Amino acid sequence: MRKATLDLHAVVSEAVNELVLAFPERSLRHERAGHAVVEADADRLVQVLGNPVGNAVSYGAPDRPITISTSGETARVELAVHNEGPPIPANPVARLFEPMVRGDPQSTGGRGVGLGLYIVREIARAHGGTVHVRSGVGEGTRFVVVLPGGEVGSGMRVTGWMRELAGGGCGDWVSRG
Ligand SMILES: Nc1ncnc2c1ncn2[C@@H]1O[C@H](COP(=O)(O)OP(=O)(O)O)[C@@H](O)[C@H]1O
Ligand SMILES: [Mg+2]
Repeated sequence: MRKATLDLHAVVSEAVNELVLAFPERSLRHERAGHAVVEADADRLVQVLGNPVGNAVSYGAPDRPITISTSGETARVELAVHNEGPPIPANPVARLFEPMVRGDPQSTGGRGVGLGLYIVREIARAHGGTVHVRSGVGEGTRFVVVLPGGEVGSGMRVTGWMRELAGGGCGDWVSRG
């Protein structure tokens, strides 16, 4: 992984522009709120976005928009993908994050083998983050990836005088709030 300090709004906005070209028949929206700085690998973030968007295209209501949102505060940043349509046919839905699990084993709708959401979870974890899904009749499906905010001074890192105060070498005494 090649982590760098990134503006999630900007990385996602660029990726959405490419997804719009990949899925010209679909309406993709990007909504952003707050301040979304992360310490992350940009290519991996694009993958984290691409999987749920691909799923939304494969399994969601074809004539309804797919909404991608990025939002954040200093210590917590979110990337979410929402689609309308029938809910995920899996119980419990959290099982979908296990490898090779598909909602409907008979389904011919998607193109995958059930690894997509597993990869999303592994990438989220590699960034100190988590992934959640909520799906129901009438509300559609929403995937949310939560990442720690990556801004210097957010309490995520120990630098400068704080490191000296801690006697150097100690990286974990500031809480991750
Ligand atoms: N947006 C969605 N709407 C409905 N079902 C979904 C959605 N996203 C994922 N699923 C269900 O979750 C399963 C697992 O997704 P994924 O890990 O991407 O594997 P794959 O797409 O290869 O089947 C899918 O087979 C599908 O049943
Ligand atoms: Mg998939």
